[in-house]
Amino acid sequence: MPAHFHNPVATYFGSGSLSQITALTAGQKVALVTFPEARGLGLIKQVEDLLGERLVYVFEDVQPNPDVNQLRSVYEHFWQHAEHCDVVFALGGGSAIDTAKALIVGTESGHFDELLALLAQGNPFTPAHCKTLIAAPTTAGTGSEVTPWATIWDSAQKKKYSLHLECTWPKAAIVDPDLMLTVPAGVTVSTGLDALSHALESIWNVNANPISDTFAVSAIEEVFLCLPALRKNLHSQELRSRMALAALKAGMAFSNTKTALAHSISYEMTLRHGLPHGIACSFSLPYVLGLAWGRDHERDRVLQRVFGPDLAKAQNHLQNFLQSLEVKTEFSDYGVSDTEAREMVEYALQGARGKNFIGARAA
Ligand SMILES: NC(=O)c1ccc[n+]([C@@H]2O[C@H](COP(=O)([O-])OP(=O)(O)OC[C@H]3O[C@@H](n4cnc5c(N)ncnc54)[C@H](O)[C@@H]3O)[C@@H](O)[C@H]2O)c1
Repeated sequence: MPAHFHNPVATYFGSGSLSQITALTAGQKVALVTFPEARGLGLIKQVEDLLGERLVYVFEDVQPNPDVNQLRSVYEHFWQHAEHCDVVFALGGGSAIDTAKALIVGTESGHFDELLALLAQGNPFTPAHCKTLIAAPTTAGTGSEVTPWATIWDSAQKKKYSLHLECTWPKAAIVDPDLMLTVPAGVTVSTGLDALSHALESIWNVNANPISDTFAVSAIEEVFLCLPALRKNLHSQELRSRMALAALKAGMAFSNTKTALAHSISYEMTLRHGLPHGIACSFSLPYVLGLAWGRDHERDRVLQRVFGPDLAKAQNHLQNFLQSLEVKTEFSDYGVSDTEAREMVEYALQGARGKNFIGARAA
């Protein structure tokens, strides 16, 4: 079977590329979805200057991990007051981009619970309306600007939903590293590790192919080199730019493979133990590497391009890297007993993402 890679997102990269939003929305009405700090950072002003009267609606209170509780009222307000906009411009981290992905999918009734019921059924559906999405990430990690997925959380019910439609692919991604210069150290590390996790998860994945591997290997090498240096020098434009590109490559890789076991584990760690997404999906990487190794010759060859031929050394390398960033790598470090960890991994292997893991059947 020939390898097939498909990503329909028109991608702009580089310092100053935010200004592309003007040409990309010519003649259209735009709604902006962004995070609370954006106004103080001068980002809303920048967008206002670039869009002028085209900017018809602003939602600036995106909270980390879009939750059904907040989304319900935001969604209904959006469809009542911004129904006339053509484009939603998501400017922020994965939480802003995923919130925007939920907003653009219009239901017949205009109510969010109709969308939630469709997501809960888990079957493909055609939305009543869908708006165009353009995404500009302000963190370097989630890759949500080049993927069609959104994670919608229900923290009260300890559940998560995955939204994925043809229309939730952004039309364009604007990756401007200047937007990331203000990200604090903790978020810089956790989002950088999210990118590392995307890249590794795309390799130990039943959907991997040589094209996704090329993006993944390059992303991993760059995260190893850049993230520790960036953590010590948060204002470096060069390092921000390299991490932004690494996260974009990781996003391209998993845009075609989806994620796998480490992410499936992460959902429980976020819902039950409150871990930020990037830590939740990276602390288990050395463990998952051990489960992946030896399952498939071709996958081993790709992993060995990154880590060399020795599994123990590879796991040590990954563990030392994470620990150097002050990320603990054992379940017990997060108060999860051996029994709970075993059950969590078993459960994660049965999940949609867990089934993408190359060791899922035999593990
Ligand atoms: N759709 C996908 O493909 C995908 C992939 C990975 C993660 N996700 C989702 O993304 C979310 C996490 O996104 P994230 O890790 O980017 O974090 P985030 O968007 O939640 O942002 C983290 C914090 O950083 C702040 N922030 C963002 N940009 C900033 C900036 N430039 N300067 C200062 N502060 C800034 C935010 O306000 C927030 O408080 C999770 O909900 C996760 O499920 C989605």
